[in-house]
Amino acid sequence: MREVTATVLENKQIAESVYSLTFYTEEEFEIRPGQFVMVGVGEYPLRRPFAVCMAEGDRVTVCYQIKGRGTAFLATNYRAGEKLSVLLPLGNGFFVKEEEKKVAIVGGGVGVFPLISAIRAYANDKEIYAYMGFRNKRALCMEYEMQRGKSLVVATDDGSYGFRGTAVKAFMEDFGKIRPDVVLSCGPAPMLRALKNATAGTGVPVYVSLEERMGCGIGACLVCVCNQTGGRHARVCKDGPVFEINEVEL
Ligand SMILES: Cc1cc2nc3c(=O)[nH]c(=O)nc-3n(C[C@H](O)[C@H](O)[C@H](O)COP(=O)(O)OP(=O)(O)OC[C@H]3O[C@@H](n4cnc5c(N)ncnc54)[C@H](O)[C@@H]3O)c2cc1C
Ligand code: FES
Repeated sequence: MREVTATVLENKQIAESVYSLTFYTEEEFEIRPGQFVMVGVGEYPLRRPFAVCMAEGDRVTVCYQIKGRGTAFLATNYRAGEKLSVLLPLGNGFFVKEEEKKVAIVGGGVGVFPLISAIRAYANDKEIYAYMGFRNKRALCMEYEMQRGKSLVVATDDGSYGFRGTAVKAFMEDFGKIRPDVVLSCGPAPMLRALKNATAGTGVPVYVSLEERMGCGIGACLVCVCNQTGGRHARVCKDGPVFEINEVEL
């Protein structure tokens, strides 16, 4: 992990309240799918965590939804050429074993962004079946990146695009047909709980990337601690953000 001064290449709106920010760094980093960065925003003391969506050479792209003051400031104040203080790469990321050939990817909301990095990393060697859920058509973005795998189902809650319903529902309708070797997922807690219930007893390992409020992003402040099964605890930033779904309380 390093702290670097990055330069903004592009910061543009790609969907309703969602922006894509690309920056470059002086040196290149090896970034695993599912790893994240902490971005310093204006004078706010705490950096904001964002999943790496795409990493190519010295260029990194994160996609973010405007949630509060920091993301609103980021969207309005950073144009090409501006400097950003960034910590990267952070967290463990996704690991897919050699023998796991069929990979199902189930994402919802801003949880689709780390999964795009997984699709990009594994699309050449694995059969990727992606199920990506959005509120509605206006929230949909990066569809072309999600199409790199063998198949893609876009689901919207209101049916304004693609499958009507959740990504988990769409995935479970196809589950018997695909029989995936492993599932990678990221999304809001209710979605992850639904996925845990739906896949319980199937014997298929499911890895989830968790989102918790973060302070430092490097394992020092304990703001991001989550409960693990068996009464243990883990730091989402350092021990995660990716966990086997049965290891964590959702
Ligand atoms: C590992 C990880 C990866 C993430 N990846 C993405 C992504 O790719 N795209 C995206 O849109 N969002 C992502 N998030 C959520 C994103 O970090 C928050 O939406 C963002 O920090 C909100 O900042 P704010 O200043 O606008 O909100 P405020 O509510 O004003 O923030 C106040 C403080 O709370 C923290 N905070 C608020 N909400 C969250 C949250 N959900 N998770 C963590 N910290 C939070 C902020 O970082 C800040 O320190 C990720 C979170 C984590 C933990
Ligand atoms: S955010 Fe500080 S320990 Fe995880």
